Order: sequence, then structure tokens, then C-alpha cells
Amino acid sequence: MTDKLWEDLKEELMLGVTQKGHPFRFCTFASVETKNSPQMRTVVLRHISAELNPIFYTDKRSQKVLEIKKNNKASLLFYNPEKLLQIKIVGRASALNDPQRIKGLWAEVPENNKKDYTTHLAPGTFIDNPDEVEYLADKNYFCPVEIEPHKIEYLKLKRPNHIRASFLKENGSWEGKFMVP
Ligand SMILES: Cc1cc2nc3c(=O)[nH]c(=O)nc-3n(C[C@H](O)[C@H](O)[C@H](O)COP(=O)(O)O)c2cc1C
Repeated sequence: MTDKLWEDLKEELMLGVTQKGHPFRFCTFASVETKNSPQMRTVVLRHISAELNPIFYTDKRSQKVLEIKKNNKASLLFYNPEKLLQIKIVGRASALNDPQRIKGLWAEVPENNKKDYTTHLAPGTFIDNPDEVEYLADKNYFCPVEIEPHKIEYLKLKRPNHIRASFLKENGSWEGKFMVP
């Protein structure tokens, strides 16, 4: 019975990567900082594998990367306002470490966007003037982050009944159950 929802959520997540302007392109990545408080920020969904492992890109010096190195528990939240559909992915986040794979992904980043990962000073450093950020020509801090999910929650608001379901990955396969919304 939850199969249809599973197909629906998979399709929406794929569209987030492939369809221009799809609301799932932007999602909220939550991690836990060292003092155990939650941290959230918007990121761009760049890839999603057949196993539904999402990937976003960041700077390896960013707070989020430092956080997931200490505590890899993380969530990604997606919302489609046209469909009133929310998807929450819960799992373990890690920075990719296969140099060949990182090289391949880096080669696909449009030239104009590459500078986002080449600031001289680390992201979050206080500066006097936003127009005086220096970029490095010969070095980058490009860091793809992958989330390996173990739980995915689906919620669709609609009348007469909202639909909520939880999918858990056990022994490699996903099991879905409806929930009270
Ligand atoms: C529309 C939008 C898209 C963003 N996409 C990304 C992204 O893909 N990767 C990223 O590292 N930061 C992205 N950011 C910036 C983050 O939200 C965040 O401010 C920054 O990465 C610093 O986060 P941190 O200090 O928690 O690591 C985006 C911000 C906005 C407003």
C-alpha cells in the first residue's frame, strides 16, 4: 500500500536534480554541532543515486563538514509547496573521499561556479567588505557530501486525509508503514 508513495517520493527526488526550477533542488541540511545543538542550512541537491543517497557540494573547510566529521548523524528536508509534499531523509553524512570520483564531479561543475569553492579565507571568516573576497587560482576546497539514508518520511497534506508514511531501511531493503499525520 505504501508502494505508490515510495515511487512518488523517488520520482520527486530525481526531479529535484534533473528538472529546472523543481522545488526539491533546494533542501535543508541539518547536522549536529559539537555542543549538541542542531544546525541547519539550505543546500543544492546535486545528485541522487538509485539507492537514494543524495549528494550536495560544499567547501571542505565549512562548519557542516567539521560537524559531520565529529557526528555523522544528519537529515535533509525537502518541501514542494505546489504539492504540499514534505520529504525528510535521515541518515549518516560523509564527505566523499574517492579522489577519482571527486575529480569527475569537479570536472562537471560549471566554470562560473567553481570559484565558490576557492576562497582564500575559509567560509564563515569575518571580513570588513564583501566585495574584497580573494579567490585562489590554483587550489580548491571542493567537497561533495553524501548522505546514506536509513529512514525516509513522506508527508502530503490533502483533504479529506493527510498522508504520512515512514520508510525504514533494514538489511538493505526499504519497508514502508503509514503513520497518523
Ligand atoms: C539558495 C541557497 C543555496 C545554497 N546552496 C549551498 C550548497 O549547495 N552548498 C553549500 O555549502 N552552501 C550552500 N548555501 C549556503 C548555506 O546555506 C550556508 O549558509 C553555508 O554553506 C554555510 O553553512 P555552514 O557554516 O553551516 O557550513 C546555499 C544558500 C542558499 C541561500
